[in-house]
Amino acid sequence: MTLASGRPTFSIHTYGCQMNVRDSGVLARRLVAAGYSEAASEDAADIVVVNSCSVREKAEDKAIGKLLMLCAARRDRPGLVVGLTGCMANRLGDGVFKKVPGLSFSFGPRAGAVLPQLVERALAGEAQMWVPDPERAGEGASENGVSAGDGRGREGDAARSGRPLAQSFVTILYGCNQRCSYCIVPFVRGREESRDPGVIVEEVREEARRGARDVCLLGQSVMRYGKMGFKWPDSIPSPMGFTEPLPRLLELVAREVPEVRRLRFTSGHPLGVTDELVRAMREIPAVCAHLHLPMQSGSDRILRQMRRGYDSSRYLEAVRMLREGVPDIAITTDVIVGYPGETADDFEATRRIMEEAAFDNAFVFKYSPRPGTDSALVEDDVPDGEKCRRDQVLLADQDARGQRLNDRWIGRNVEVLVDGPSLRNASRWSGRTEQNKIVVFDPVDGMNAGDFAFVSIEGARPQTLFGTVAR
Ligand code: SAH
Ligand code: SF4
Ligand code: F3S
Repeated sequence: MTLASGRPTFSIHTYGCQMNVRDSGVLARRLVAAGYSEAASEDAADIVVVNSCSVREKAEDKAIGKLLMLCAARRDRPGLVVGLTGCMANRLGDGVFKKVPGLSFSFGPRAGAVLPQLVERALAGEAQMWVPDPERAGEGASENGVSAGDGRGREGDAARSGRPLAQSFVTILYGCNQRCSYCIVPFVRGREESRDPGVIVEEVREEARRGARDVCLLGQSVMRYGKMGFKWPDSIPSPMGFTEPLPRLLELVAREVPEVRRLRFTSGHPLGVTDELVRAMREIPAVCAHLHLPMQSGSDRILRQMRRGYDSSRYLEAVRMLREGVPDIAITTDVIVGYPGETADDFEATRRIMEEAAFDNAFVFKYSPRPGTDSALVEDDVPDGEKCRRDQVLLADQDARGQRLNDRWIGRNVEVLVDGPSLRNASRWSGRTEQNKIVVFDPVDGMNAGDFAFVSIEGARPQTLFGTVAR
């Protein structure tokens, strides 16, 4: 491979959740700041970093397969640097070099600052370097990576992966201290750690400077923001009279970064849905009428075994508070099918509660035992065929429900943040409503991605609205 044509180029391949998407963006900026540039495609890159997910076995299988393929590609691309980060990096530690001997380096998701150094050493020929997460991510440390005002535009963002530029993420809470029986995240993302509000504001401002108009604040259990080893600084008042950290943070970010017209936060938890949070969602104009509130199951018996900390009636109570307090709110969820011991009755309870909660959208996952978790100690006794069947049933239910709920938008005028050409049909454009619903429409002259526009809704499908730009 020849590097003579210019600076070495990189590509980052991202699996997993929005937190990984955020981390990949930050890693890319770190590399750009260190003098590397983003490759036009992964095939053309000198350095490929895989940002991995461990949440289900399949996610890990994909990442391992990808790494092996990349290392094999060295036959044609000698000198290709292949690195790993993300949750699987933490789960496997230096054990990953047994599975993927050709790997240049691996580092934990909170150790991203070392990436430029690892790349430099790898380009010089070093291999199999492993850097674990630091004990604490470092109070006050910003993830901006590139100093503000460098004028370099958006290189190194997820732009090429097709993610809309106007929508962005900022992590506000690292790790997770809950111990849901099935979940690997606490093992691979470490202890819960709330980030400093001043640093968060600075990072949101940086996203706005890069064009973001919709920012989602991230935490695995985001409503735990500010609950552990943290005191909201006395120097930051709450004119709206909030006392809880998350409402205060939403108020602060909305006030300090008005360019961000839409603020979201995810993932929610029913026990975190307080009167004050509902008031924040209603009264802070930038905070969107949208919440992702994973339910996991509608069976009280299964919820207890999952150690989720709520039962179905507490969950529905949170939904009621949100619907009463936040006009037009869209609520989406995650559900696991085939948890060990899940009976036909448990499953029917899930179907029933999903209908009662009237979810706008639902992500359904087939249970996958994860090493080291408590539920992996009991038999994974729901056969795969039955998991698939339950998955299909919930998706069909959700389609019918989504159609019903989306039909209610027909005839209304909604404001969308324009994403640009739609993925399915480039002659039509798409955008998102405050509820995060996708709207497809014909673009009008002078319209650009990142604009806000009003669209009058004329048609609906379970996951999409269709309309005409209003003048
Ligand atoms: N922090 C989020 C969830 C992060 S993982 C929360 O608590 O809501 C995203 C989703 O993956 C979870 O909501 C759950 O539905 C699913 N999931 C987690 N572990 C899983 C497992 N072992 N098997 C199948 N799905 C799982
Ligand atoms: Fe996993 Fe539960 Fe933490 Fe979510 S809250 S990341 S499901 S342990
Ligand atoms: Fe996966 Fe890690 Fe996110 S396990 S879902 S990438 S926190």
